[in-house]
Amino acid sequence: MSKTGIVFDHVSEYLQSIRRDRSGWLAEKEKIWRENGFPIAEPEVGDLLEIICSLKQPKKILEIGTCIGFSSLLMSQTVSDAEIITIERNPVMIKDARKNFEAYDKSHRIKLIEGDAAEILPNLDDTFDLVFLDAAKGQYPVYFPDIKRILSSGGVFISDNVLFNGYVAKGSPDRHRNKTIVMRLDEYLQMLESDQDFKTVLFPISDGVTLSIKK
Ligand SMILES: C[S@@+](CC[C@H](N)C(=O)[O-])C[C@H]1O[C@@H](n2cnc3c(N)ncnc32)[C@H](O)[C@@H]1O
Repeated sequence: MSKTGIVFDHVSEYLQSIRRDRSGWLAEKEKIWRENGFPIAEPEVGDLLEIICSLKQPKKILEIGTCIGFSSLLMSQTVSDAEIITIERNPVMIKDARKNFEAYDKSHRIKLIEGDAAEILPNLDDTFDLVFLDAAKGQYPVYFPDIKRILSSGGVFISDNVLFNGYVAKGSPDRHRNKTIVMRLDEYLQMLESDQDFKTVLFPISDGVTLSIKK
């Protein structure tokens, strides 16, 4: 198995060997951010975001978990007229993300809301065509009812890191302190898969990604 415990090594290596690097104005910065160890979306998750944004052409996007702004900028690069709202609670990340949005002249397209997503989501009244969830994994079941409420019908929902190194599928974590995250992600995936208003596929790529459409 690979280091994420999800895909066999030979498959993972093969996929990486044939993958073409991203082009566009963000490509150079993406490389630097990865080399510096920022927890930004894995390359193939970025590819999925690009494809879904190109297909869906969302006018309004919600992202939960900004980090330094990579995925927001990538979605903005793909759909230049989209309005993006992104939520982040870490002050260090917030500062860098704001700097990056300025540097790419995207501050008018990407609005960063500072604070804990669990407190912000219940107060959001806008409707979104696409929601990308990439934040505290243990909170995914808490976020889901609000995400469902604010996602338009026909809207697309993507959530990242749902298999948590494969431990969710195994049903047990590597260490005791991760037990709650594994239980909550399992609860979240059951909730999402069984929701009759959604059609969901779970991709065993990267750390596990779901793609759903709200009917
Ligand atoms: C994996 S990173 C996001 C990466 C980003 N989506 C990208 O690809 O560029 C997760 C981020 O979510 C933030 N986060 C975690 N829990 C959060 C919460 N409850 N509310 C707001 N932000 C949160 C973390 O501070 C971290 O910066």
